[in-house]
Amino acid sequence: MKIIHTKDELACLIDDYKKAGKVIGFVPTMGALHEGHLSLVRQCKKNSDVAVVSVFVNPTQFNDPEDLKRYPRTPEKDCALLEPAGCDIAFLPSVKEIYPEEDTRKFDFGYLESIMEGAKRPGHFNGVGQVVSRLFDIVRPDKAFFGMKDFQQVAIIKNMVKQLNYSLEIIPCPIVREESGLALSSRNALLDENHKKNAPHIYATLKKARNLAPEMSVGDLKKWITEEIDSNPFLKTEYVEIVDDTTLKVINDWNEEGTKVACVAVYAGKIRLIDNIVF
Ligand code: PAF
Repeated sequence: MKIIHTKDELACLIDDYKKAGKVIGFVPTMGALHEGHLSLVRQCKKNSDVAVVSVFVNPTQFNDPEDLKRYPRTPEKDCALLEPAGCDIAFLPSVKEIYPEEDTRKFDFGYLESIMEGAKRPGHFNGVGQVVSRLFDIVRPDKAFFGMKDFQQVAIIKNMVKQLNYSLEIIPCPIVREESGLALSSRNALLDENHKKNAPHIYATLKKARNLAPEMSVGDLKKWITEEIDSNPFLKTEYVEIVDDTTLKVINDWNEEGTKVACVAVYAGKIRLIDNIVF
C-alpha cells in the first residue's frame, strides 16, 4: 500500500492506472477507522482494480468548532488497518493541500438539505459537497463507496454527482453494527463507559418501532420512538423522522408509496449519534 500526502503525487499514480485501463474505486473517510470503514474498503477492492482511501478530517463540514477539535485522529493506526483490508493507496492530505485557498462555493441541495442533518447542522452538507467534489477531482474514481449510516449524505452526494456531471457510480453500503446493535461510528470512541453501555438502546428502539409500525400512525410512532429513547437517562433525541428512502420526503401516512426509513439523531451526553432503519 502506498501512503500519499500530496495531490500531485496522487495524480501521477492515478494517471498511470487510468492509462492501464484500471477501474479506480474510492472510499472517502475522516479517519479513526473502524470495521464500518473497512467493510467499505473491502467492498471497494472487490469491485475495482485499485482501491483508494482518503483520510482527511474536513474542517468545512463541522458547524461546531468543539466537535472538530475533539474529532478522533489516529492516522498511524488507520494506515495499519487499511492495508490488510485491501487498500492500494491511502491518501492523507493536509488541510492546505485540500484547501490552498478558502472554498467559497455554495451548493444548493434544495429540499434534501432542509431536513434532519441539514436542518440541525447548517452548512454541514455544503462542507461535505466541497470536500467530496475536491476529492473526486483529485482521485477521479470510477466508483465511490459510502456507508448508509449517513443515509442523508448519500442522497446529497448523489445529487452533487448529478449537478457537477461526474461520471462515476455511487455505491451505498450497509450499516455495520457492534454485537450490541450500536451502529459503528468514529464518534463511538468518544463515548464514556455509561454512554457506551446505553447507546445500543437507540437501535433496539428502532427495531421495536419497525414491528410497531403496522399498529400505529406515523405521528404516534415518531412520538413513541422519541419517548422510548428519552426514557433512557443517558440519551436525548434531537430528531426522529420517517422519510422516503430516495426523495427523503417526510412520510405522514403509511399508505404513501415507496420504502420508508426511520432516521434519528441522539445525544449520548455530549456525543451526537445518528442511526436509521429501513421499514
Ligand atoms: O462520511 C464521512 O466520513 C465524511 O462526511 C466524508 C464523506 C468522508 C467527507 O468528509
